[in-house]
Amino acid sequence: MSRQRKFPTQCIHAGETVDPATGGVMPAIHTSTTYEYERFGVPREHLYTRASNPTRDALERCIAELEGGERALAYASGQAATSAVLDLLDAGAHVIVPQDFYAGTCRLLTQVRSRTSGLSISSVDCTDLDQLAAAIRPETRLIWLESPTNPRLRIIDVAAVVALARERGILVCIDNTFATPCLQRPLEWGVDIVMHSATKYMGGHSDVLGGINVTRDQALGRKLAGLRSASGGVLGPFDAYLALRGIKTLALRMERHCANALGLAQWLSTDSRVAEVIYPGLPDHPQHALARRQMSAFGAIIGLRLRAGEPGVGPFLDRLELFALAESLGGVESLVGHPATMSHSAVTAEQARAMGVTPDLIRLSVGIEDIDDLKADLDQALSWR
Ligand SMILES: Cc1ncc(COP(=O)(O)O)c(C=O)c1O
Repeated sequence: MSRQRKFPTQCIHAGETVDPATGGVMPAIHTSTTYEYERFGVPREHLYTRASNPTRDALERCIAELEGGERALAYASGQAATSAVLDLLDAGAHVIVPQDFYAGTCRLLTQVRSRTSGLSISSVDCTDLDQLAAAIRPETRLIWLESPTNPRLRIIDVAAVVALARERGILVCIDNTFATPCLQRPLEWGVDIVMHSATKYMGGHSDVLGGINVTRDQALGRKLAGLRSASGGVLGPFDAYLALRGIKTLALRMERHCANALGLAQWLSTDSRVAEVIYPGLPDHPQHALARRQMSAFGAIIGLRLRAGEPGVGPFLDRLELFALAESLGGVESLVGHPATMSHSAVTAEQARAMGVTPDLIRLSVGIEDIDDLKADLDQALSWR
């Protein structure tokens, strides 16, 4: 048996992307939507691009290997991937979600699937296993996790949740967008499905929208493939190529993203102009010990609250130069967001409050620029009078 390759090597070689027809070390972008049969009754490997496409297949093989899964499926967006997981549920199912999580997932569940599929949703503090166990009902079919959560960066003990779910036959899906398989591989802890917004770190350059589901077993993968073919939200070949290209440098980028974020979080936490720094890599984070155990590094998202009387949220955001005020995260460039009016404006005010999304919360997506330049930018914006 050949030696297990290390993650940075896997990022470049996973899925064996050498083009079998030409030897090209990157797969071709296969644009054909349909494929000629060899003859009547004898189809070739691909029939129609909604079902399968060679470029998308290369991306899927690559990500399945990176996550240690059996099957990966690529979708037109992270939301399409989430939607596909919900397609596994029968009408009337009960779903458990964390207290804070991506607002788009919350909106899809509470404003769409509750109406169209009669799903009922319980929002639970998933860092408290007793609370989680108490929320499980006979009709609970899915526990949806994020760790770290968006935007409060709480860490959930994923293996412990899996243990609870397993004995009750409940599916566990984790949105692994913030961590990527570089920092944690939840399928190894028994999670059934790992979901990604590939728009973020996977693509890594803020130029491709995509989503991924990876399953631990083939049967579930086949089921999702059938559902995707039925509902149609597939990733196109150009975007599949861009995502594949981005993944080549995932390990390298994550190393710098995480080092920059840890350095900035430590520096900000000593600054008297800052009231609170939320980052799992800081010893005062409530789940710091768990983050240390569960992740190989702490990610590159930082939550921030300024001290009263300091610039104030609006002036601080406007004053930043390198950190662009923009939705999204996970690109090479640093971004800053205001969850209450941006990423989490999709949910009701009550839901946002329950998620801890207060108007003073600022979210940094730390890029891979030089840390001294990022510090200088934050410093000049904090100094504003
Ligand atoms: C954690 C998380 N999950 C899912 C999504 C949705 O992904 P997409 O925007 O690719 O549909 C996002 C988008 O911001 C996200 O941050």
